Amino acid sequence: MGFENKFPVNNEIYHQYGERWYTAKDDPVALLRAEARARNRWIISEMTRRNLAGDIRILDIGCGAGFLANELALHGYKITGVDASKPALDVARGHDSTGTVDYCCGNAYTMAFEDRIFDVVCAMDFLEHVEYPERVVREVSRVLKSGGLFFFYTFNRNFLAWLVVIKGVEWFIRNTPADMHCLQYFIKPAEMRRMCGESGLNMLLCRGLAPKIFRLAFWKTLATGIVDDRFTFDFTWHTMMGYLGVAARE
Ligand SMILES: C[S@@+](CC[C@H](N)C(=O)[O-])C[C@H]1O[C@@H](n2cnc3c(N)ncnc32)[C@H](O)[C@@H]1O
Repeated sequence: MGFENKFPVNNEIYHQYGERWYTAKDDPVALLRAEARARNRWIISEMTRRNLAGDIRILDIGCGAGFLANELALHGYKITGVDASKPALDVARGHDSTGTVDYCCGNAYTMAFEDRIFDVVCAMDFLEHVEYPERVVREVSRVLKSGGLFFFYTFNRNFLAWLVVIKGVEWFIRNTPADMHCLQYFIKPAEMRRMCGESGLNMLLCRGLAPKIFRLAFWKTLATGIVDDRFTFDFTWHTMMGYLGVAARE
């Protein structure tokens, strides 16, 4: 599937990672894995806190190689993952040790699901990869049941995010692909709230997430360009860079 975006955000890279989705340390995909560890924990704890367990249906949009979907499946959840990259989905299937995740190739703008069938929809590190995030949010709302939850993770659009998330990664992580991110597609939390509101989704919570900098792993990563296995992310008091949120369908 081809990606058509006005600004140069390179979504073709996701076709090419192969096993490197899970093994590369000299590439920002290692940061994505570290981010996913923190995000997954939070999503699972939020779902547990809201008594979302048992036979619920979850959709992961732009699921990539299944960092979230495969972990949720391990926790017994019934999950569907959608991504436009067939090769990424092959990797995801290869790492689904439960063999239960339903991975399908598709475009997030027009998904082949009936209205109101999912209890939870997730879009992690995804909305800043498409030109029209509001269309994706509309699709999220269409497929969510009333009272269902939408979990998202994306990046704020400002100078600090450009410096750290785009330039910092390019300067410090060895094999950063060109145009992996594009500032124009980053989304301010207020825009995210508005997009959700316009689609009948009420934002309940929004929290910043950033690397833990007072750790040896962080400085070793900067010095070597190789992402240390102990590199971790944690919640921040601000949403100036990456932020997670959850919204509820009316
Ligand atoms: C940064 S990766 C995030 C993967 C995963 N959510 C994670 O956090 O590990 C972005 C993913 O979005 C997918 N993607 C980009 N545009 C898409 C579209 N229009 N529809 C579906 N998937 C898309 C890419 O193939 C890629 O796997």
